[in-house]
Amino acid sequence: MMSKSTFNEADYQHWRPRVDDDHIVWLAFDKAGSSSNSLSKAVLEELGAILEAVAGMPDLAGLVIFSAKKAGFIAGADIKSLKHPVDHDDVLALIHLGGKVFNQLSELALPTIALIDGFCLGGGLELALACRYRIAEEGEKTKLGLPEVKIGVHPGWGGTVRLPRLIGAPAALNLILSGHTVSARAAARLGFVDAAVPKRQLENAARYYVTHRPPAHQAKWWQQLTNSAAVRPLLGFVVKRQLAQQANPEHYPAPFAALAQWQQYGVAGQKALDEEMASIARMFVTETAANLLRIFGLQDRLKAVAKGKKFKGQHIHVIGAGTMGGDIAAWSALQGYRVTLQDTAADRLAPAMKRAYGLYQKRLKRPHLIREAMDRLIPDIAGDGIAQADLIIEAIVEDENIKRQVFSEAEKKAKPEALFATNTSSIPLAELNSVLQTPERLVGLHFFNPVAKMPLVEVVSDAKTSPASTEQAAAFVGSISRLPLLVKSSPGFLVNRILMPYLMEALVLLQEGATPSQIDKAATDFGMPMGPVTLSDQVGLDVCLAVAEHLGQYYDEEVPALLREKVKAGECGVKSGVGFYRYRRGKALPMPALKKSAGGTSIAAQEITDRLLLRLLNEAVACLREGIIDDPDLLDAGMIFGTGFAPFRGGPIHYVKSALPDAVSKLEHYEKKCGERFKPDAGWRTILS
Ligand code: NAI
Repeated sequence: MMSKSTFNEADYQHWRPRVDDDHIVWLAFDKAGSSSNSLSKAVLEELGAILEAVAGMPDLAGLVIFSAKKAGFIAGADIKSLKHPVDHDDVLALIHLGGKVFNQLSELALPTIALIDGFCLGGGLELALACRYRIAEEGEKTKLGLPEVKIGVHPGWGGTVRLPRLIGAPAALNLILSGHTVSARAAARLGFVDAAVPKRQLENAARYYVTHRPPAHQAKWWQQLTNSAAVRPLLGFVVKRQLAQQANPEHYPAPFAALAQWQQYGVAGQKALDEEMASIARMFVTETAANLLRIFGLQDRLKAVAKGKKFKGQHIHVIGAGTMGGDIAAWSALQGYRVTLQDTAADRLAPAMKRAYGLYQKRLKRPHLIREAMDRLIPDIAGDGIAQADLIIEAIVEDENIKRQVFSEAEKKAKPEALFATNTSSIPLAELNSVLQTPERLVGLHFFNPVAKMPLVEVVSDAKTSPASTEQAAAFVGSISRLPLLVKSSPGFLVNRILMPYLMEALVLLQEGATPSQIDKAATDFGMPMGPVTLSDQVGLDVCLAVAEHLGQYYDEEVPALLREKVKAGECGVKSGVGFYRYRRGKALPMPALKKSAGGTSIAAQEITDRLLLRLLNEAVACLREGIIDDPDLLDAGMIFGTGFAPFRGGPIHYVKSALPDAVSKLEHYEKKCGERFKPDAGWRTILS
């Protein structure tokens, strides 16, 4: 029998190999100094040495790789360990090291098993794909995927080769090009997990695979055909066309490179693996990857605001069950809180409950989980929940008088330590907290629409808000898997204030004769997820008008007459079937210009882009100068996570600094041409110095 001391523990920092009495190597991954596992140079070198030792021990029965961490299997490559800006040769060296080690793993003669419990992403999944078998825990926390395209690169350790080889090109490309993750059961259905089992059966399942050695999973004949040299060109062409509808290759080159890689080199042989490595190293040094990596870091910074802080409460009361209140309540209950939801009548509550049910069906899938979430969400017309709630969120109509009344009544019933929050989009806290006996308890929690999709929540405080209230509010936001952005109270806070001039300029352009689709195209060509005219129609022109009028009082912004006319005519956007576009079955129809532009010439696309963007950037600079937010990186994070501002450009301020040195002269040009609204803000001197 083999000795348990075959491996000397003291030799390893990140891995703990142990050989049991059945000659199985149980290789625990426990990255030193980190709460989760990721693949760095040191980790890979150590793994390589262990695999070499394993290859030299003919008596072993099998190798089982698992995580010793509480959270997850492997999160991917350790991108934080890369030098910034990323150096091509550095990254290539790390990629080659990983490629070599994963080849060693795939070439071992004994059965190899990745025992996956929790997230298994990027390089983590590629390591698992280099094993003969993959067994995964079937619970909700287990997620498998290749999300590399989300940081502007693509898989580099065999993902674009081994995954299509294992499950066929269509399903594999779907995962690789979207970066989506799937559950263990879905992965088992697709064929890249051999067994999805409950936690308690993980070890036994691994033993079974080692001792019984079932044939390794193979793609079905037709799946294999999709990878053949004869099919790849045609399939690649079709997939590329579909991909181009979702992403612009100039903005997001990585998925296109991954597709080209598969199409050209296929799924067999070292050449395919080598070319994948060369391609990812090229992707790593693109501007897009640098910006997306930066955003990844910004996301961590926002998460850190809530990290280590515990929200002291279990019960949330939401007043107003409309678009926002209903969705905030549903989301909070999904995240485990007991939630009471109040509105003026039952017929106001019903649509919110129905939407919540739809959300839970989509997210939770299993009937008992859906039932439990619905049980946590309690309709409450009488507002009885206020007396028990730890946090009371107001999300009623955007009217300061009604909001003041609601807060002053709620304060009488609420527990003395309860926190108050408003979801107002534009009203400064000072206009609301003046009615409270305890104004230090009021914060702004400004969610974005749709709540289930938009990760940002602005946490707003003013001079009267106590630091403890702000901290608790941020902790609550973190506890419902949202990103808190701390901002000072001022009209429109940060995100809407910066967005509003951009939306208003779009309306001025419409008035001058540009068509809705010309304006939208200029914005989406720049990289916005949706054009400003479509966005206005989606938010609702009545809502836009209310916010524009409110902000207009403070920022001297003239509300374009066109917006008032539309709202007066009842043409409020998607919800009315007509706004700036007409909608048929929810789809926008192309619209002509409202009038011929001056001189009969159309407005150049470049001018449209310039004017939309310069107004947004000028306001962003003003917000920084006024200290609405602490630093430029956080402003960038707010605009990216709150509005989807072209992520590959790194955020407004980063964009200005890296790509727009002539912003001020451009603003001056348009100030002369179009008027005062383009006057460069005084803050530009600091930004560009
Ligand atoms: P909504 O019009 O869809 O819903 C408001 C709800 O409040 C209605 O169901 C109404 O019956 C209820 N309500 C009015 N007075 C009430 C009272 N005294 N007690 C209980 N319920 C009452 O409005 P929406 O869009 O949900 O907006 C709510 C708040 O959220 C506003 O302050 C808005 O500015 C803000 N907001 C809106 C966003 C959007 O995209 N619609 C985005 C972010 C914030």
